[in-house]
Amino acid sequence: MWWRMYKQSEFNKETYPLSWNHSYTSKGTQWRGYFDLANYSDILLMDGVVLELGSGDGNTASQLVKTADKLVCLDIAHSSFSVLPMSELDVHKSVGDARTLPFQNGKFNSIICRHVLTHAIPGDSEAILKEIARILAPDGVVLFEVFTPKDMRWGKGVEISPGTFLRHDKLIWRFYPEEEIVNLLDNAGLVVIKSEVHAKEVRYDGLIYVRESLVLVTSLK
Ligand SMILES: C[S@@+](CC[C@H](N)C(=O)[O-])C[C@H]1O[C@@H](n2cnc3c(N)ncnc32)[C@H](O)[C@@H]1O
Repeated sequence: MWWRMYKQSEFNKETYPLSWNHSYTSKGTQWRGYFDLANYSDILLMDGVVLELGSGDGNTASQLVKTADKLVCLDIAHSSFSVLPMSELDVHKSVGDARTLPFQNGKFNSIICRHVLTHAIPGDSEAILKEIARILAPDGVVLFEVFTPKDMRWGKGVEISPGTFLRHDKLIWRFYPEEEIVNLLDNAGLVVIKSEVHAKEVRYDGLIYVRESLVLVTSLK
């Protein structure tokens, strides 16, 4: 119990996303799973200006750069831009906070936002979605990916609010039931045009676990 109280008292609601700086400095490249963007090529608009929000080590950006007219990568962790493959990508790189984005209204034709909401506390998810809706072009689209409560990582750490866990490395992991994320999107003025569950069984030490995420493509209402 003392451990829980100690960890929660250390948690700072303003600065917690900066823990990602330490994550990239200590672990380097960490996102290796392949996300097949070709499945969404009919719906994502790669002409005009494309934003990857929370671009991390460049795992997704290294695919996006092949088809996007102009790709902007933004992340709150400046250290993420020193990590491969991001450090070698020829894209516009910006250190910034998704809760208060440094971009003008309606600037982006497509926004890719994979697992940023996964690491945001309640309240900040709403702020991020409001900013995304503000900077999206009137006919633009946004692709989100979040983990569902069935994912194997559910429950690791201290549950600081329902479905939201604070890990020992001070990173937040939040898991969204579909209805909850769709409501959050709706409140931000975004409507779902494509929704897919990505589920995969993985084996560790002879046991089977499930990785499960939800991919939602949205546009302005
Ligand atoms: C799990 S990683 C995902 C990386 C990348 N989107 C991908 O698909 O490989 C989450 C990223 O979101 C960034 N992030 C978290 N909160 C953020 C915020 N408030 N503003 C900007 N970036 C944020 C982290 O620094 C981290 O690089």
